[in-house]
Amino acid sequence: MRIDVLTLFPEMFSGPLHTSMLGRAEKNGILEFGVHNIRDWSLNKHHNTDDYAFGGGAGMVMMPQPVFDCMEAVTGGAPARRILMTPRGKTLTPSYARELAKEDRLVILTGHYEGLDERINELIDDEVSIGDYVLTGGELPAMVLIDCVSRFIPGVLGCSESAEDESFSNDGLLEYPQYTRPADFRGRLVPEVLLNGNHAEINKWRRQQSLLKTLQMRPELLSGADLSKKDLEFLSGHGWEPGE
Ligand code: ADE
Repeated sequence: MRIDVLTLFPEMFSGPLHTSMLGRAEKNGILEFGVHNIRDWSLNKHHNTDDYAFGGGAGMVMMPQPVFDCMEAVTGGAPARRILMTPRGKTLTPSYARELAKEDRLVILTGHYEGLDERINELIDDEVSIGDYVLTGGELPAMVLIDCVSRFIPGVLGCSESAEDESFSNDGLLEYPQYTRPADFRGRLVPEVLLNGNHAEINKWRRQQSLLKTLQMRPELLSGADLSKKDLEFLSGHGWEPGE
């Protein structure tokens, strides 16, 4: 997959896109990144990319010309899913990330200032938010989206199952606790069940821990989770009623 980012702060991407899993995927040719400075397309003599809002108001608004020219230069008219990062977009979910992971090409526009000139929306297929809070710009949200989508691209994670096995893919439950050596760390012991090699017992314990963690941290997820009769019995033993 090729991912292009249109931004006023290209330097922000130099670490995250080229380190760890994304860096390895790039080296292996699974991912290809392009980061483009919108300011380079400004025809304004000071290379401005923003201006006052028509109708008044405090903040500045991103001008259409540099964004249109940058988008046209980057895509060259080739097909791509074009995404704007904005707090007023639809919230990023695993199913949306999985859908994007099937695309050959993403172009991500990151907004700044008070907002973008509304005519820029003509260039955009999807408006995406990473949550109901407002950040200083769309750069960090773009990195979150790229990371999240990349995990669903075959070959990006070490093991092809890993993206399926974690919180939110685990029948809609949060992930169970994990332990590694030593079995006794300064008197803090690993649960006995994990040490005895009985895989039926281990799977049962892990399932119950996932149920408990979800009940404790995100009880609203339980109503949409894929729960067996045994799960329901276990949860009701811990005070949960279906429909809560
Ligand atoms: N830009 C500023 N805040 C944002 C958010 N929560 N999601 C996406 N883009 C943003």
